[in-house]
Amino acid sequence: MSDAIAFVPTMGALHAGHLELIKRARELSTEVVVSIFVNPLQFESSEDLAKYPRDISGDTEKALSAGASRIWAPTYQEIYPAEIEKISAGAIGEIFEGRHRTGHFDGMLTVVHRLFELVQPRYAIFGEKDFQQLFIVKKWVRENDIPVEIISAPTVRDKDGLALSSRNVRLSESERQSALVINRALATGNKEGMLSTLATEPLFQLDYAEVIDEESFEVATPDSEFKRGIVAGWINGVRLLDNMAMGSN
Ligand code: PAF
Repeated sequence: MSDAIAFVPTMGALHAGHLELIKRARELSTEVVVSIFVNPLQFESSEDLAKYPRDISGDTEKALSAGASRIWAPTYQEIYPAEIEKISAGAIGEIFEGRHRTGHFDGMLTVVHRLFELVQPRYAIFGEKDFQQLFIVKKWVRENDIPVEIISAPTVRDKDGLALSSRNVRLSESERQSALVINRALATGNKEGMLSTLATEPLFQLDYAEVIDEESFEVATPDSEFKRGIVAGWINGVRLLDNMAMGSN
């Protein structure tokens, strides 16, 4: 096993999904660095930033027991000294998630770039839950010859099918039941099925539901080899997103 760094960047509030990323990192290396930094640049609303759950001591305990060798919670100044290079995600950063969260992907790539500069990992592990983020990071690494191997890990779901997310703690039990509509919608396997299923849940406010081509992140065509359903929306002020592979041709 390598002793090159396997890196798991997080914003904390660790759940079982993050712990799977850490376990995957541990399979790749004995040196597993987990960063905890709530990146203001990728929040478009100060309210969402303020409400983002924080629990450094709980996170540290969980990360260490999942196999992390170092937990790193940098300060704002460490990540953003006076002069930093802002990274643009380009056109892909302005569709779907990016259309609803202006500047989100530029902020995300800017922090990932800084974290990679400071940690110098050989591997970095990202969850499929944020599928557009994963696509954008892989594209940026490829196009800029960044010497980091991006490893993806499948979304972890609760028994009832809800994708784990740090934001789920803000859902009441009945809102959580409503949120299950997302998983049911994705399980239909096509756009019409997604839209009609989502429309059955009055609490769910849709941002987008689409079937995309995994290679291009454009709307899938009959020629798309790998397709993925993507959904995002709101339940009582809590933003939820999820995705699911929709088979190949
Ligand atoms: O997926 C996340 O938690 C964040 O977007 C990341 C990659 C840690 C950057 O802040």
